[in-house]
Amino acid sequence: MNTLDEYIRAAIQERKLQNTYRSLSVNPLLTDFASNDYLGFTRNKSIHSFEHESPVQSIGGGGSRLITGNTFEYEELEKKIARFHKAEASLIFNTGYMANVGLLQAIAQRGDTIVYDELCHASIRDGIRLSFANAFAFAHNNLKGLEKKLKVAKGKISVVTESVYSMDGDVAPLLEIVKLCEKFRASLIVDEAHATGIYGKNGEGLVVELGIEQKVFARVVTFGKALGCHGATVLGSQHLIGFLVNFSRPFIYTTALPHTSIIAIDRAYSELMASKNKINELHQKIHYFKSLTQNISEKIIPSTSPIQALIIGHIEKTKQIAKRIREQGFLVKEILSPTVPKGSERIRICIHVFNTENEILELANILNNELTLSEIVVHA
Ligand SMILES: Cc1ncc(COP(=O)(O)O)c(C=O)c1O
Repeated sequence: MNTLDEYIRAAIQERKLQNTYRSLSVNPLLTDFASNDYLGFTRNKSIHSFEHESPVQSIGGGGSRLITGNTFEYEELEKKIARFHKAEASLIFNTGYMANVGLLQAIAQRGDTIVYDELCHASIRDGIRLSFANAFAFAHNNLKGLEKKLKVAKGKISVVTESVYSMDGDVAPLLEIVKLCEKFRASLIVDEAHATGIYGKNGEGLVVELGIEQKVFARVVTFGKALGCHGATVLGSQHLIGFLVNFSRPFIYTTALPHTSIIAIDRAYSELMASKNKINELHQKIHYFKSLTQNISEKIIPSTSPIQALIIGHIEKTKQIAKRIREQGFLVKEILSPTVPKGSERIRICIHVFNTENEILELANILNNELTLSEIVVHA
């Protein structure tokens, strides 16, 4: 029997052998084509400056929401968020990871079934695991696959999807998924992390854009992407929120967000409400990037979102290409297995509203050159 230390050393060694060992690094100051800050809100001083806020209450939340951490501002923000997303109610969690875990862990019990898209985020999978429910993954965005799993589902049935997939950038066929959920009396949960600020007239998300907010059981919206802050919310009925306050362990047993976070999230929502033009401009820039990469479009997962995934399909090659792009001044990140399936290693490019046309053009030229180069190398 190995000791724990031997196990850890062996696991690290295995990762290194696979060439997928992760380590932390501080990003150099390059042109950002990697962050989820799609609308540039992390750079917005009117959201993040507290100079004129006096006195700003302590950074420490002081206790959990149920003990001493709750405030009038927290509750007002939840009401504002619910109205904006056309939901009955909202409950803020400290992160999107905790919102997914806290929602899924609480709503499903042994004997229930959760059916989820195979590309769902790690936080969704971890929440499902903690719930003890039966879990079936269906092939990515595959409605037949989903229906097949729903036919054998037992107990209370939930279906979980993202509206925009974080590593692929494509959107889920939510209208069709809603129909299947109705047919099988399943409750639909949609993670809108990467759709918030992008879809819907004012960035309310894909669910509002499609007008299906009444048909979705719960949504998870995160504040760490387009909103440029930190934290997340579950949107749903009043009684779902009441239930989570009672049964969601990641909500109950943690210190509330600092007051400054609540102020920043509140300001970010106000900013989003006035960002129609910015959202339109972002979509124009995404369109511009796609028009410039038409020659290599079969390597890019079809996507109308800011996330454009350039599939390389080889670990070392992906790392090398990303490194060369960074050396030319553009911050892009390689995404390797096990974060994405083996053989689908990729460079994840995020388009932002603050990326200039010239920067997008330069990046597209580099990508076109790199891919032509790598084709030549592969065929040589
Ligand atoms: C789809 C999805 N859901 C949830 C999360 C977690 O959000 P957070 O970063 O707020 O924990 C992420 C972010 O990585 C995500 O991409």
